[in-house]
Amino acid sequence: MTYRSNRAPLSPTEDARHLMFDDLEKLGRILVETGDVAHGFIQGADDMDVTCRDFSAFDPSRPLSRQGSGTLDALRAAKEEILPLLAASIGPRYLGFVTGGTTPAALVGDWLASAVDQNATGPEGSVNAAVEEQVINWLCDIGNLPRDRFDGVLTTGATVSNLLGLVTARQWCGEQVGVNIDADGASVLPDLAIFAASPHASMIKDLSITGIGRNSFIKVATLPGTEETDLSDLRAKLEASDARAKIVIASAGTVNATDFDDLNAIADLCAAFGAWLHVDAAFGFFAALDDRRAHFLSGLERADSITSDGHKWLNVPYDCGIFLTRHISVLETCCRAFAPYLETKAIGNSYINRGVENSRRFRALPLWMTMMAYGIDGMAAVIRANCDQAADLAMWVRTHEKLELLREPKLNVTMFASVGSDDDNRALLDRINAGGKTFLTPTIYGGRFGFRAAFSNWRTQDHDLAIVKQAIEMAL
Ligand SMILES: Cc1ncc(COP(=O)(O)O)c(C=O)c1O
Repeated sequence: MTYRSNRAPLSPTEDARHLMFDDLEKLGRILVETGDVAHGFIQGADDMDVTCRDFSAFDPSRPLSRQGSGTLDALRAAKEEILPLLAASIGPRYLGFVTGGTTPAALVGDWLASAVDQNATGPEGSVNAAVEEQVINWLCDIGNLPRDRFDGVLTTGATVSNLLGLVTARQWCGEQVGVNIDADGASVLPDLAIFAASPHASMIKDLSITGIGRNSFIKVATLPGTEETDLSDLRAKLEASDARAKIVIASAGTVNATDFDDLNAIADLCAAFGAWLHVDAAFGFFAALDDRRAHFLSGLERADSITSDGHKWLNVPYDCGIFLTRHISVLETCCRAFAPYLETKAIGNSYINRGVENSRRFRALPLWMTMMAYGIDGMAAVIRANCDQAADLAMWVRTHEKLELLREPKLNVTMFASVGSDDDNRALLDRINAGGKTFLTPTIYGGRFGFRAAFSNWRTQDHDLAIVKQAIEMAL
């Protein structure tokens, strides 16, 4: 069947669309070829250099031609000009930041999400909102959060989930003292105090975006040698504050030490001082799937709001953030979008009213696919394997005479350095990464420059770990 066969001939002004209609006719072949290209890249990620360090061959200033030549030509150009210059961040030895790969099922879900291109705003005329609701229910189950108390929304990432946490918390705080920030602006609540021990960089950015201010939070001490909230300091600072509105930001898996706060103790303090508890569990949330570590998250169900995401440890492609809260109506107060053309009588959640974007990608589908395909056991196996790999690398570092472990990993990140100076370590990191076998990112921990090896990819296996160790050894 051809798509064009029943069409009237295109008028001259429509002519430029003929390439698109031609592509539509041969879309089956195009998708097969695209699949081959994608498959080649995915398979090749085992062997290619983990990062690309020279992309001078790509000219960002190239002028755009008036006439295109169709998808297959563009695909060929992408294959030659772009793909060879990419990082193999989907591969098993990319250990930078906290970078998840993509499970096959999540990839398929992502492609389908693009193919069906739903505007996932709500339940009007499409099941997409119900799929998002189901995925959020499953996430609640994973985190042992009662479905009848928690609800949420999928976002573009943990940064936006943290933003929603701040905005919802601030609105709730205002409501507690009889002011309405949503209607009247943040100035009606000048005495808002935010307490945080180890806020992620994204939270600091969100403090700026919300107009609260990057420097306008009360820094709580951490327990010696950790990134964990010092509870007695938090108590003292809550007691000393005469602010009417208080938000406490806790961590469930800090980005360096992967430390978890004592969430029950912090929830007790929040209850005593009338504070909102936001927990940043961007990747630590999934420790709930590892029975050896699930207790780290004890008390999470007492949080008012929680940040997590799927594009790190759940190995769903970008972008996929997760925001959960016990106060969904407060979130909806802040994010609701009114216009006659947006009205709907359809029954179900309107996600347009729960986040920053109005128009939204159907990002529930990749999550749904990976969860359906591999189940709880499959997801848990990735978490356990990555934690074991971080522990294995830590053990190797500990016994290596030229290396030092900066912190025992609690989860999936190993932090270490050579016994040399910070400058030596900077140069060493460059050498390790230049080797192309692995990619580590820097950190400062306990005042020392070091490296982070963050295991977050489902594809990482023992032989990859052996290659990583060899790459470090060769750079020493
Ligand atoms: C604890 C924590 N919170 C928030 C973020 C921000 O996540 P995203 O890049 O998805 O916005 C990160 C990223 O590493 C993180 O580790």
